Amino acid sequence: MDGNSSMSVESPLSCAHCGKPARLQCPKCIELKLPPAGASFCTQDCFKKSWNSHKSVHLKAKSNTPAEHEGWLYCLRKGQKRSPSLPYFDWTGTLRPYPISKIRLVPNGIEKPDWAIDGIPKVEPNSDFQNIVEIKTPELIERMRETCRIGREVLDAAARMIRPGVTTDEIDEVVHKTTIAAGGYPSTLNYHFFPKSCCTSVNEVICHGIPDARKLEEGDIVNVDVTVYYKGVHGDLNETYFVGEVDEATKQLVRCTYECLEKAISIVKPGVRFREVGDVISRHASMSGFSVVKSYCGHGIGELFHCAPNIPHYGKNKAVGVMKAGQIFTIEPMINAGVWRDRLWPDGWTAVTADGKRSAQFEHTLLVTETGVEVLTARLPSSPDVYPWLKK
Ligand code: MF3
Ligand code: CO
Ligand code: CO
Repeated sequence: MDGNSSMSVESPLSCAHCGKPARLQCPKCIELKLPPAGASFCTQDCFKKSWNSHKSVHLKAKSNTPAEHEGWLYCLRKGQKRSPSLPYFDWTGTLRPYPISKIRLVPNGIEKPDWAIDGIPKVEPNSDFQNIVEIKTPELIERMRETCRIGREVLDAAARMIRPGVTTDEIDEVVHKTTIAAGGYPSTLNYHFFPKSCCTSVNEVICHGIPDARKLEEGDIVNVDVTVYYKGVHGDLNETYFVGEVDEATKQLVRCTYECLEKAISIVKPGVRFREVGDVISRHASMSGFSVVKSYCGHGIGELFHCAPNIPHYGKNKAVGVMKAGQIFTIEPMINAGVWRDRLWPDGWTAVTADGKRSAQFEHTLLVTETGVEVLTARLPSSPDVYPWLKK
């Protein structure tokens, strides 16, 4: 931006150069959403005269723009190149995508799933376990316990960093590094070309948000969804966190979503129909005036990231099959403050609420036992105390 023009404003501020009433505001400051105080001028002439000293305030405020994020670009749909500018979209709420950092590398010694190199899962879509629900062997169950435990520790590490000012890319960096430090691969990295090591879903984002340069703000909520691949199996879990103090309605939404997952888990045992999960969740959500997302479901998991069974979270669904001991699947309800309907951002990943209102989610990986359920991704005594309703 050069100092040749400025834009008209309404408020009676004083000129940053001479102190007279000011009605012009520096356009660069408007673009950077900087406060008008100190950025307003009475005339173009005063604006020009201040330019040399004024322009430094732009540099200080630029931390969320590509200028200070060399090599960062906006994510566009799979197969399309990344772009230096924001694409056009009728955004449903106030959240916008920010540029994303370069691909993070995984050391050679770490065992990788088959999509790690070229972005394309090869075994998963062709497996019989897309149709039949595998009964896991005791040996595989033991590996799932180990992997899910690592997943829990990785998610807890992410939870401990949540505060205003932290970018979702910084969360991704911690997820990436703690996963690797434990000897695991972050399953989402390059899965169908997903560019990051976890999903971070802020406010109206339902799921599959891409970690980017946006700083978390006081009052936000953010879901962090972690999947770890270790010893040939995946473990998948997520939680929604409060950023600083949030409003009462948001607290209710997050608590209700937590309870939806708890209630769903409580019915899991051999003989229960998969379709009953959605009835329990939908009953509890609608009791609080919330709605249930239909486009994204719980799933079988093990040597494959996503496989049978498919478990909808909404009521009166037509899911087939009955739970049996030795099955492992996720339940991961997404609950909306407003309408249930979702839209997809132009990046091909980020699912948002159609009305721009907030959405929350919790996820566990579960084993059906002879008598009930084992929560493989359960919270640990060391897990951070982030939910007031869990305090003794
Ligand atoms: N972890 C998500 C789930 O719960 C899946 C993320 S896949 C990604 O199923 F590609 F979007 F990362
Ligand atoms: Co999942
Ligand atoms: Co997940």
